[in-house]
Amino acid sequence: MDIKKYLQEKKEVVDKALESYLPKQSEKKDNEEFPVSLRQAMRHSLFSGGKRIRPILSIAAYEAVGGKGDKILPFACALEMIHTYSLIHDDLPAIDNDDYRRGNPTCHKVFGEAMGILAGDGLLTEAFRLMTKQSMNDPRVVLDVVNDIARASGISGMVGGQVADIESEGKGVDFPTVEYIHTHKTGALILASVRSGVKLGGGNDETLKAFTGYGEKIGLAFQIVDDILNVEGKAELLGKSTGSDLFKKKATYPSLLGIEESRKRAGELMKSAIDALQPFGSEVEPLKEIARFIVLRES
Ligand code: IPE
Ligand code: IPE
Ligand code: MG
Ligand code: MG
Repeated sequence: MDIKKYLQEKKEVVDKALESYLPKQSEKKDNEEFPVSLRQAMRHSLFSGGKRIRPILSIAAYEAVGGKGDKILPFACALEMIHTYSLIHDDLPAIDNDDYRRGNPTCHKVFGEAMGILAGDGLLTEAFRLMTKQSMNDPRVVLDVVNDIARASGISGMVGGQVADIESEGKGVDFPTVEYIHTHKTGALILASVRSGVKLGGGNDETLKAFTGYGEKIGLAFQIVDDILNVEGKAELLGKSTGSDLFKKKATYPSLLGIEESRKRAGELMKSAIDALQPFGSEVEPLKEIARFIVLRES
């Protein structure tokens, strides 16, 4: 299959849905439901590029287990909103202090720090409103998926990982700590994206187990590759600064294991992610290709 074409097509679907969930202008033009400046700041980060890998994973998993139609889209878009919120906050001066993201100046650089914090808060909260607003899915499944996504985004997932990340700066931490950081700050939301697709698509427990194995592996691989690209990638392609992890003495795979070993580990994770899907047929081909893309990407 042509994975570039697949990713492009799915990205267009996601972008169109996101546009409808957070349009340029409020439908109530004379009486904005919320401040125009907030809408601009949220849209600045949400629509300035981005691979949309999390929503695409949720759609790919949904379709792989036989899910049909648009019922996955509010969840797919919510995952992208949560991810975008995490990027805005990650770039703030108090965390990574980065000036570029997705090829543009970061949210706080354009709109100020207070608005960066609030635009992030807005995207995070809006994600949960979006997931619980629609009534097309079985409410029991929605409850379960929302719980999964909350866990993955919150203290036992991304937020916990981000805290460990900043607390490990300059410390020369051990390997289990780096693995904890990566599986939590990044892996958890990627895993939840895959699992949400399986659950909403009606996959059974056995399928969920196999796809969970896949999601765990690509989630960790994703952050290892992010670390490698911070050392070896091209800022123009990445749309964000390189070399910053070394400068900030971040706890990364390359800093602990070196580039070659990190690349090897990412490759091994890619293989075992693909292996986890071996019991399935052509319906999981996009997921296998996404695993390859995650490890072989240049941006
Ligand atoms: C970057 O994520 C931050 C991490 C969690 C590693 P992506 O590489 O998915 O960023 P976008 O969405 O494409 O900008
Ligand atoms: C990002 O980790 C993780 C989250 C935003 C949750 P990094 O700080 O390593 O990612 P980049 O390199 O800034 O995208
Ligand atoms: Mg960070
Ligand atoms: Mg960062």
